[in-house]
Amino acid sequence: MDTEKVHILNHPLIQHKLSILRKETTGVKEFREIVGEIAMLMCYDATRDLQTKEIKIKTPVANAKVRVLAGKKLAIVPILRAGLGMVDGMLNLIPSAKVGHIGLYRDPQTLEPVEYYCKLPPDIEERDVLVVDPMLATGGSASAAVGFLKKRGVTHIKLLHIIAAPEGVERLSREHPDVQIYCAALDEKLNDHGYIVPGLGDAGDRIFGTK
Ligand code: PRP
Ligand code: URA
Repeated sequence: MDTEKVHILNHPLIQHKLSILRKETTGVKEFREIVGEIAMLMCYDATRDLQTKEIKIKTPVANAKVRVLAGKKLAIVPILRAGLGMVDGMLNLIPSAKVGHIGLYRDPQTLEPVEYYCKLPPDIEERDVLVVDPMLATGGSASAAVGFLKKRGVTHIKLLHIIAAPEGVERLSREHPDVQIYCAALDEKLNDHGYIVPGLGDAGDRIFGTK
């Protein structure tokens, strides 16, 4: 596995919050809140390399040289449904980012992604894109989402997942070696149904209370 492409965010706050997500007894309200909090912490780390430029301003006391964001604007693209749970946390830190949506579900038999929705900002090709989805399992959904974005001309894409499986990382490294992956944990494996082990179960169902 090309581990250089995977950034595992070992921050104690992220790891503590992730332990609550993993527990089967955690209820919908707490689960949803914590997904948002982890997304915000992950966003902080994944935007570490954003470009800045120096400008001159006046404080109430003196002139000062300060640094502000420069470079390309950002877009956040959640993979529906579960990715929606991460959007508000990301927007807390980058409120001027535009948000696109890619709707994919995994066929339970083939585990391949099926597209049902795609709406992206019209200037998406001019933006750096942060794709968010709590789970990277086989990698089919993330790989398809990255494929759509590349077809629309996007050149700089990062994936943010709360939990990744080695199988998904492998697939992304093979199909999209230019894409960096950020996750809070790289778990052991997938089970026979394509669920991440130990994982946290079905992220969409736990965020929206559909099971
Ligand atoms: C889950 C998850 C990812 C996908 C990961 O979505 O949120 O999008 O599975 O699996 P993969 O890496 O094998 O593609 P799901 O298909 O369950 O849809 P949902 O978010 O609507 O529940
Ligand atoms: N999708 C989920 O929501 N959970 C998994 O473990 C795998 C795919």
